[in-house]
Amino acid sequence: MSSIQGLAFTGKFHVQNKTWSAVDAYTQEHVHPPTTSNYQVLLDALRNSRDKGLPDIATAPTVAKMYALQCKARGVKHALEFGTLGGYTSIWLATVNPGLQVTSLEINEHHKAVAQENLEKAGVADRVTIRLGPALDVLPQLASEIASGAKPKLGFVYIDADKQNNWNYLDRVIALCEPGAVIYVDNIVRGGTLVDPENQDERTQGARRVVENAGKDDRVDSVVMQFVGEKGYDGMLMAVVR
Ligand code: DHB
Ligand code: MG
Repeated sequence: MSSIQGLAFTGKFHVQNKTWSAVDAYTQEHVHPPTTSNYQVLLDALRNSRDKGLPDIATAPTVAKMYALQCKARGVKHALEFGTLGGYTSIWLATVNPGLQVTSLEINEHHKAVAQENLEKAGVADRVTIRLGPALDVLPQLASEIASGAKPKLGFVYIDADKQNNWNYLDRVIALCEPGAVIYVDNIVRGGTLVDPENQDERTQGARRVVENAGKDDRVDSVVMQFVGEKGYDGMLMAVVR
């Protein structure tokens, strides 16, 4: 069974594979067992998000935990997420990192309301702030708070929103980051459709644009990692700020 901590994905992803799902299930059972302190709150957040009609596209637990551990390894004080959805990734980041504040941008009022419930239930609402609106409109306010010292520079950024804006988000956020900050862009490989220049899907075009532009940008060092698991075959772009 494909499972996300016991919840089966409804599965609208490009490619699925029993072995990939089984490896996630086996490894998660061992490295993130139900006795782990944030296990139940994460499961509750997924259940509540599903019950309230949110799309079943939260970041996979393995990937979200990897992000949380990256924040821990870098000692990140301030993380930014584009695309809150139900707050699942934010809960991972905040529960693994007690000293971390998370800013999360969301355009959908219903998603924000459900995420707020989930954050409160998870006990991290005091450290995760959701800002409602189109990210490119909301970013200048965050930029001025960082410039004034009211908020620390960003040490970690996760871009997982409207894919056509991948590059715009990466381009704008670099100035808000500390040197060595790590930026990830989700859903880049897209079942391999990334390599098809004729693909008309604007999400694929958004993935190609950010890969091509990141490589030309001397503010970051970038790599794309392919990734398989219970959510199929996808991958992310990682950019490290110089
Ligand atoms: C979709 C969006 C995502 O961010 C993701 O990780 C998977 C799927 C989507 O819009 O279908
Ligand atoms: Mg995604």
